Amino acid sequence: MKINLKVWRQEINSVNGEFKDYIVDNVSKDMSFFEMLDMLNNTLIQNSKIPIAFDHDCREGICGTCGVVINGTAHGPLKGVTTCQLHMRSFKDGDTLVVEPWRASSFPIIKDLVVDRTAFDRIMESGGYISVKTGGAPDANSIPIFKQNSDEAFDSATCIGCGACVAACKNSSAMLFVGAKINQYAQLPQGQVEHPKRVNDMVAKMDAEGFGSCTNTGACEAECPKEISLDNIIKLNKRYIKNLFKN
Ligand code: SF4
Ligand code: FES
Repeated sequence: MKINLKVWRQEINSVNGEFKDYIVDNVSKDMSFFEMLDMLNNTLIQNSKIPIAFDHDCREGICGTCGVVINGTAHGPLKGVTTCQLHMRSFKDGDTLVVEPWRASSFPIIKDLVVDRTAFDRIMESGGYISVKTGGAPDANSIPIFKQNSDEAFDSATCIGCGACVAACKNSSAMLFVGAKINQYAQLPQGQVEHPKRVNDMVAKMDAEGFGSCTNTGACEAECPKEISLDNIIKLNKRYIKNLFKN
């Protein structure tokens, strides 16, 4: 296949970026999207040009490091799939793909397609942990947990912190990420002790980092590669409102 690419190139954050056109020939449909970019980068290097910077690590859809916007959709056209797991068979010979970094003021561009997502780390530092003393490792089944709760905690914990929800949202809201991180603890007894404080602290940090508000468009859920449910936001809002009336 022959693929036409329009890729966002930006040397550093303080200079303006622009789209640059590339043609990648002999693309196999079995290649991953990143293998296609690797091929382009090899050609650029061979021609003494600077390769395109993009984030990736596991390339297995589990680490949350990767992510670009392809033709306006975070992580590309396949539902529930990260960019690293996207294959060129999802595109046709002659397609033009516009490839951009996450666009959000809280995720400043570092270079080309790489953005700084340490705002998510700082939100996690503000409350995304359990600090109560739980003693030694308990015997299996000594703390009974309803299956529905353990399933829900597990579903929320599948959030890989990629930031696609922010990139997809017109308000650059991080509510789906924060909701998932809070709910993964809230469903378990060990996480309930600090739950009210965790909600206030993580929401305050999210606001301080400049993420926008949620206006229920559902774009985050639609483009999340782990299909994290909007229910996480509903639960977060319920607890946040409850906290307001308690104080
Ligand atoms: S909620 Fe989904 S899109 Fe947002 S950070 Fe988690 S996995 Fe990525
Ligand atoms: S590189 Fe790890 S999820 Fe894509």
